Amino acid sequence: MKMKRFSACDFFVIPLLLFIICFSSPFISASRLLQSDIHEVHRRSLLANGLGATPQMGWNSWNHFNCMVNETIVRQTADALVSTGLAKLGYRYVNIDDCWAELNRTSEGKLIGNKVTFPSGIKALADYVHSKGLKLGIYSDAGFYTCSKRMPGSLHHEEIDAKTFAEWGIDYLKYDNCYNDGSKPTVRYPVMTRALMKAGRPIFFSLCEWGDMHPATWGAHVGNSWRTTGDITDDWKSMVSRADMNEVFADYARPGGWNDPDMLEIGNGGMTHNEYVVHFSLWSVSKAPLLIGCDVSNIAKDTMEILANKEVIQVNQDPLGVQAKKVRYEGDLEIWAGPLSGYRTVIVLVNRGPTRLPITALWEDIELPVDTVVKARDLWKHKTLSKSFKNQLTAETDSHACKMFILTPIS
Ligand code: GAL
Repeated sequence: MKMKRFSACDFFVIPLLLFIICFSSPFISASRLLQSDIHEVHRRSLLANGLGATPQMGWNSWNHFNCMVNETIVRQTADALVSTGLAKLGYRYVNIDDCWAELNRTSEGKLIGNKVTFPSGIKALADYVHSKGLKLGIYSDAGFYTCSKRMPGSLHHEEIDAKTFAEWGIDYLKYDNCYNDGSKPTVRYPVMTRALMKAGRPIFFSLCEWGDMHPATWGAHVGNSWRTTGDITDDWKSMVSRADMNEVFADYARPGGWNDPDMLEIGNGGMTHNEYVVHFSLWSVSKAPLLIGCDVSNIAKDTMEILANKEVIQVNQDPLGVQAKKVRYEGDLEIWAGPLSGYRTVIVLVNRGPTRLPITALWEDIELPVDTVVKARDLWKHKTLSKSFKNQLTAETDSHACKMFILTPIS
């Protein structure tokens, strides 16, 4: 067989022709398209850490301990998460919030644990928490200081901080927005995203810019969750208003990236038992992070009953990952609903008013085909109702309380 020999023409004319073809106008748009595709892929992979397939679950120090957090509290909380059985139910992240570091960096420019409150250092704490089968989270800020102003932020120190966190074995970073340089979060937060991606350890990235720049619209490229609201306080009005602000962005939540209406206040004493049940039910269907905010080492039985409700947790952790919406409200009576895996639907009937009243969920409102016959499971009574339901379901609901059902088609 004869081999084709290359001539001078092959070497000069063919590349020239290719050059002309590539840059002639019909091809320019195609090559631009390709470039934008590449850009898109790059943007999508800005946070390809594989975390947050379901909303994060765990504990955070802030709502109960504020700046009084120390390593003993963190260790005891890790122990308590295991001994109460909460860890087994999915509460695995043990997250230290603000105030954990010295005000000054080391001579190498590194953050260092506060010598009085975290004398053993963060690495030792991470080792301890890991030995319990749990994960350790930490907190920093896209500014010069954190919100307490008691420790430095990570602005302009993103790479060294991300590396330090990875070296210590940190699994989660909450990133706040205080004392920044005035530039937009959309400029400052992705710098930490990139630094985390380079640090060589998958670190869940929780954005906390309080919903200022509608992070639901850009957060999925940058973090695994994003706060949609300012800080929650331990009262009914604050709690339901966080749920409302968060609901607006329901369409943006999905596996890998979740709306965050702030951490749980259940067990901190400012609401009634029924109000805390509403808190947990709404956070569950909203696919919100379930981050316990009370003192787990001294947890009361009725708090445990709420936080350890397996059926409600399963709704939050459902693999479909679709956030429920407030599909209808009339005055103080509300119907929240969303789809679950297995053609099931979850509904929460909330009574925000002062008196006990019946609330009706109509199939047309919760997007079930009319005539569908369903069985209804009451997730707070742990009972499947004996009768089946068609076209609607009505339940009497106390003041500042809710009913929560999973509807499963039987026809
Ligand atoms: C706030 C943040 C709170 C808590 C606090 C710590 O900005 O929203 O969740 O982290 O800072 O100072």
